Order: sequence, then structure tokens, then C-alpha cells
Amino acid sequence: MELFIDSADIDEVRKAARLGVITGCTTNPKLAASAEPGDFRKRVEEILAVIDGPVSVEVVDETVAGMLAEAAEYASWDDRVVVKIPMCLEGLEVIHKLEREQDVRVNVTCMMNSNQTAMAMMAGATYVSLFVGRITDMGYDADVTIAETAQLIEHGGFKARIIAGSMRGVGDIQRSFLAGAHIVTTPYKLLPAMIHHPRTVETIAEFKSAWDEARKSGSVG
Ligand code: E4P
Repeated sequence: MELFIDSADIDEVRKAARLGVITGCTTNPKLAASAEPGDFRKRVEEILAVIDGPVSVEVVDETVAGMLAEAAEYASWDDRVVVKIPMCLEGLEVIHKLEREQDVRVNVTCMMNSNQTAMAMMAGATYVSLFVGRITDMGYDADVTIAETAQLIEHGGFKARIIAGSMRGVGDIQRSFLAGAHIVTTPYKLLPAMIHHPRTVETIAEFKSAWDEARKSGSVG
């Protein structure tokens, strides 16, 4: 069970990394476009410097040749760069080539059901990303999709690891792990929310005030 940070914003990635619970990072073109402007390679290198694990970087070209060229560029930046390939027919061809012929790790992205994850895994994907928030938006049960993919991994003997992404709230994180996701990738804002509980805050304050009172009255030195 692992947590990744879903961000291309280096300040958020740094804050998340300091918490000691983050073992990887996922970016996408929309996240990269909304982060601080600047050289993309430099930004990915900054992320790699603070995250110990894999960092996913997504291709945007829609042709097989174009995706392979982008993938080769990203993969040359660092061994920990995982190339994100969107689920489509051209993508399947690219996944197979990268994983089986070029020894490049692939995260297949933008997936909404277990037919897609099955195809990605048969093509050789290391990571399969299910977009929980978007699946839920369409009225489907993302837990079922995650559980089906976990079952396919077992049944097909695949090496793939399930990444649950598109997190909208802490309930999504909780349910995704319980449904069988190996990894949840989350925006930074859900990390403080994961540990917040008003009774915890109250209890900490109650203990501190009892201690402060006792110090003041001299009953503890
Ligand atoms: C996962 O790798 C994606 O970056 C991601 O979680 C996208 O989710 P969203 O665009 O639905 O928020």
C-alpha cells in the first residue's frame, strides 16, 4: 500500500515529501500546465530530487512514432521516470514496445473500466491508473472497477500495480485502498485532510492544557 503525490508543483511535492508517507509522484499535462511556468525537464528533475520513487510523466502526441519519441526523451532523464501512456489503440502498441523491447516502465492512464486495464496489462504495463473521481462522476462504482482489476491481476498473473487517481476526497482514498488499489495518487490538499479529526484536535488541546495547568500550579516540575 503506497501513496503518491499527484502534482507537478514542486512546492507541493516538497511539502508532501516531508511528511514521510509519499513514495512516488504522478504528473499529467494538465497539472504541468497549471504549475509554475518554466522548463519542464528542470521541474521533473526537481521532483526527482525530492521523491525517492517513480515519477510519472505523460506523453501528449497521438501517434505511435510521436509517443515513442516523447517516451524516449522522458526515459532518458532518469531511471525513475515512468512514462504515462493514455489508453488508446496507438497507446497499446506503444506500451508493448516500451515495456517489452525498450525496458521502459509504463503507467497506462485515463482508464475507466476493467476491459481497459485488462488490455493495458496484456500489453505489459507496469502500472494501470484508474480515474476514481471521473468513474464516479459517470455514475459507476469505482470500487468495483478496482476490485475487478485486482482479480484480473491474480487470474492473469500480471505484474501490474493498480494506481487509483482522480481523488476528490479522503473517502475516495480510503475506499480505493480497501477495494485493492496498490497505490493511491492524491493531490496535496487531501494529505492534511487524511489525518484531520476534530476529536483528535480537541484531545491534544485537552492534554496540553492539563499539562500547562499542572506546571503553573507547580504539581509537575
Ligand atoms: C493520475 O495520474 C492523474 O494525474 C489524475 O489523478 C487526474 O485526475 P483528475 O484530472 O480527474 O483530477
